[in-house]
Amino acid sequence: MIIAPSILSADFGNLEKSINFVKETKWLHVDVMDGHFVPNITIGPVVVKGLRKYTSQVLDTHLMISEPAKYLKEFIKAGSDRITFHIETTSSPKKVIKLIRDNGAKVGISIKPKTSVDTIKDYISLIDQVLVMSVEPGFGGQKFMPNSLEKIKEISLLREKYNQDLLIVVDGGINRETALLCKEAGANVLVAGSYIFGSDDPNERIRTLKWLLKFLLDL
Ligand code: DX5
Ligand code: ZN
Repeated sequence: MIIAPSILSADFGNLEKSINFVKETKWLHVDVMDGHFVPNITIGPVVVKGLRKYTSQVLDTHLMISEPAKYLKEFIKAGSDRITFHIETTSSPKKVIKLIRDNGAKVGISIKPKTSVDTIKDYISLIDQVLVMSVEPGFGGQKFMPNSLEKIKEISLLREKYNQDLLIVVDGGINRETALLCKEAGANVLVAGSYIFGSDDPNERIRTLKWLLKFLLDL
């Protein structure tokens, strides 16, 4: 199980300090928003470039932007290891998948809470991860939507059938309780922003999550 702290909830006035708190995790989740696909604007390739110099963690880049094909190359050049785009943003997902691969990054597709799993079924065998949004994309600190659990289960079944290496990532409203539910449903990666960075000791939150998830595994 991978915990991916979302830097959206980090202290942007002192990013170095925030990142230091969570340097033990394998992944760092980077939320890119364009003020068009979602009602918020966050960071661009220049910040990814800065992060890349500072950490060797996997930079899991979540593009919440209307034109992923136009910008993804810049993010990969800046240091993104994994690029996730939203299925709602393109009528040619296969082209976007190929573009990400050709530029050397791992590929993910994300679905918003109201988008069905059916929309991505045909691409499961071609990608490395599916990111299930468990809140409406745009902001940290929202409440987990329980219907995401059904979707995770549905994707787990598709994983068995079409792509055993597929990672199921869950993003939004992850805390001690929802983390366990997601794991039970079949998730491999949990993105957590406010739960981790909302504490004075983000590392303690990560340790707590890891401990709980391990405990569940051992039951
Ligand atoms: C929301 C972002 C999330 C966000 C999660 O659109 O994709 O990654 O940072 O934040 P929390 O964990 O606070 O729900
Ligand atoms: Zn995200």
